[in-house]
Amino acid sequence: MYTYLITGGAGFIGSNFIHYILNKHKDIFVINLDKLTYAGNLDNLKSIEGYKNYKFIKGDICDEKLLEEIFSSYDVDYVVNFAAESHVDRSIKDSTIFVKTNVLGTQTLLNVAKEYWQEPDGGYNKKKKFLQVSTDEVYGSLGKEGYFRETTPLDPRNPYSASKASADLIVKSYCDTYGFPASITRCSNNYGPYQFPEKLIPLVINNCLSGKKIPVYGDGLNIRDWLYVEDHCKAIDIVLRKGKMGDVYNIGGNNEVKNIDMVKILIKIVKELLNENDERKDLISEELIKFVEDRKGHDRRYAIDANKIKKKLGWVPETTFEEGIRNTVKWYLNNGEWLKNVTSGEYLKYYEEMYKERLD
Ligand code: NAD
Ligand code: DAU
Repeated sequence: MYTYLITGGAGFIGSNFIHYILNKHKDIFVINLDKLTYAGNLDNLKSIEGYKNYKFIKGDICDEKLLEEIFSSYDVDYVVNFAAESHVDRSIKDSTIFVKTNVLGTQTLLNVAKEYWQEPDGGYNKKKKFLQVSTDEVYGSLGKEGYFRETTPLDPRNPYSASKASADLIVKSYCDTYGFPASITRCSNNYGPYQFPEKLIPLVINNCLSGKKIPVYGDGLNIRDWLYVEDHCKAIDIVLRKGKMGDVYNIGGNNEVKNIDMVKILIKIVKELLNENDERKDLISEELIKFVEDRKGHDRRYAIDANKIKKKLGWVPETTFEEGIRNTVKWYLNNGEWLKNVTSGEYLKYYEEMYKERLD
């Protein structure tokens, strides 16, 4: 029996991870600690509400008292820290909450885990493991050639990635100083169900469906290395069970796509998958694309070398891009109510503030 404490489990990757492990393992108990920020959504977990091996706790990873209550009430074996402010554009507007949650929150979580896990002789039970879910953005930006390897120096270039890199270094310091059992995964861009439509892929799908202009930053030639979210979840679970404590593992799909190509692919698939008699079909075309002012400090290219996790732990991405991207568009088309709920209210205000000047 393993007890997982998943933080940020009501967000995009966290909720996919909870579905994945509950399907995969019979002998687990899952605690989901989530603050339910704008990005946290319990609708993502509706189908498992009431499961006896799942418990949701609303709370903040910066709240030391609450973390102590959780660790004293449950014999937590694994901590998987997804909780974070995750959107680069928001961090450019105001980085305060990014430093609080991503840096101080991670440090608080590490401290409490250490307090409860460390044994009188200073060692740790082999069952206990902490996994920090990090990002390829900590490595900065690539030119035309090359890949991010685990040995690539950290060179974050926006407040979000700087906060994630800071958290990585704090995790590393706990491993080096206290022998704390933690590992770090650094993944490239994820796509799939339940992603909040502030991020490129769901934003494009949503704008197609509502006939809005599609904002493409700069010249649209920036490159991201896309991985289907379930493949990321599989990799995290493998690192947790088989990874070497103290190590970093890069995760990526070897799937580089220019932003403008991604936008065109999505326009084509949305149009194709809409019902014949859907009135929106005729309005969806590349004419919706609008090149707008670039993101400040926009990283040009990300590309992951994932050979370490492939060779050492036997992980390989299983979903092809063609299959994954069609599944994703289908999911958004079949979950119109979910999309409607997350794009009303607060989202409209956010969209207006973030894009008004760019799209006017
Ligand atoms: P997300 O924004 O969709 O979800 C974040 C979740 O964390 C939300 O449920 C939110 O309510 C919760 N949260 C935020 N602050 C919290 C706090 N102080 N205490 C408790 N919960 C809090 O993010 P995501 O895209 O699912 O990313 C999850 C993690 O994976 C992040 O750490 C991110 O840096 C990392 N990551 C994301 C990607 C990607 O492509 N999305 C790629 C690599 C790594
Ligand atoms: O690489 C991993 C990272 O991927 C994660 O650590 C982050 O949490 C996650 O948000 C994601 O960061 P990006 O900045 O790469 O993702 P985003 O979807 O915001 O943007 C993808 C690309 O699309 C990027 O080059 C900016 C561009 N873009 C984005 C938006 C929202 C546009 O051109 N127009 C847009 O409206």
